[in-house]
Amino acid sequence: MSRISITYRGPLRGEITPPPDKSISHRAVMFSSLAEGESIVRNFLEAEDPLRTLHAFRQMGIDIEVRSQKSEVRSQDIKHRTQDNEVIIKGKGLRGLTAPGDTIDCGNSGTTMRLMSGVLAGQAFSSVLTGDEFLLKRPMKRIITPLSEMGADIHSEPGGYPPLHIKGGQLRPIEYHSPIASAQVKSAVLLAGLYCSGVTTVIEPGSSRDHTERMLTAGGADIKTDGLKVSLNGASALRPMDITVPGDLSSAAFFIVAGLLVPQSEILIKHTGINPTRTGLLDILTRMGAHITLENKGIISGEPVGDIYVKHSNLKGIDIDGDLVLRAIDEFPAVCVAAAKADGTTLITGAAELRVKESDRIAAMAEELAKMGVRVEELDDGLVIEGREHLNPSLTRSHGDHRIAMSMIIAGCTCQGETTVEDTDCVNTSFPGFMETLEGLMK
Ligand code: S3P
Repeated sequence: MSRISITYRGPLRGEITPPPDKSISHRAVMFSSLAEGESIVRNFLEAEDPLRTLHAFRQMGIDIEVRSQKSEVRSQDIKHRTQDNEVIIKGKGLRGLTAPGDTIDCGNSGTTMRLMSGVLAGQAFSSVLTGDEFLLKRPMKRIITPLSEMGADIHSEPGGYPPLHIKGGQLRPIEYHSPIASAQVKSAVLLAGLYCSGVTTVIEPGSSRDHTERMLTAGGADIKTDGLKVSLNGASALRPMDITVPGDLSSAAFFIVAGLLVPQSEILIKHTGINPTRTGLLDILTRMGAHITLENKGIISGEPVGDIYVKHSNLKGIDIDGDLVLRAIDEFPAVCVAAAKADGTTLITGAAELRVKESDRIAAMAEELAKMGVRVEELDDGLVIEGREHLNPSLTRSHGDHRIAMSMIIAGCTCQGETTVEDTDCVNTSFPGFMETLEGLMK
């Protein structure tokens, strides 16, 4: 089990390019595999989670070639690291997949399991989806319920936990009022809707990320959004795509927070996705008093992108709830570190979903920040964090969760004295090269 030790080593300065967006990388491989003909995905995230999706489609007979220029030769250029690759996917159409032959192992990836379930529900074969010890504890009822309503035959462990045994078949369109705002649920239902004749509709209680809608539209799907309601008219073919994946704001988040917290830091984070359904972190930090500006804004492959400039700022505690929670759902571990160093109290509510992410992120952040001397109160649906000027260097652990690991490393960067984070292999699920990127900014 690997561990990382870190201490304050002066300001963080320079330019970085975050790794490619994880959510968009998953979808690019899935939707291209279902399209009719050859798609190109540039800047695909070659990290454990999206590679699980890629392998799953190979298992189902899709020819996927990864042309990678990422090599040791580029490692001197690590500060400007992009995953300089092209993935060529020979899609076989909605009904071109073949039975996987073996169980599909989704590893740690909830996106692989939940979105794939929507696709597999519409196939003429059966399949089994499993995952690692963490994924086996994550709730799947949220997708089993609507997909069953559409006619899918899905068997799970008691309580709705994986492995999932999916017997694909003929599906019918539904209008689904989702009890939770979740892009994974919405996407699973819409993907199953591709296999229905007629209109499948999902109505959410709040807006979740809309990468599926944007990419399916680019692939020619008949899809309409009206506020919190998304409708897809199924059964028509998807056309191949040429997709360039932007940098992942969820990975950039650790450097945004580190740049704000470490005195005299100044970081330019290039070519990052700034889709408005994902930018809650920027709004939260700006309200806390952060100096953050967006430059070079544009649209690439239907997704808003830009460069994010951040410099050290004195932050103050605020109340965070509602829409801001949804738009920053993956960034709370980093937000908690910012709150721990802010002046005053930060109150996070309406964030019960954090309990069912890669770990229980409410319990995990409360436990780890307390070790650093922070007064934290756990709420059922959030946290109360009292900021302090100095965090105590400590022995911390990741809880097997990539985002907790990177958040604690960032917290360690602000401490005078050594902080150790245990069990850090999980960082590779979303951000291979995280430490090299951080060290590049310390030179
Ligand atoms: C994701 C959606 C979110 C997010 C996850 C990735 C996606 O999950 O937390 O990391 O790619 O659709 P929920 O749909 O459960 O909110």
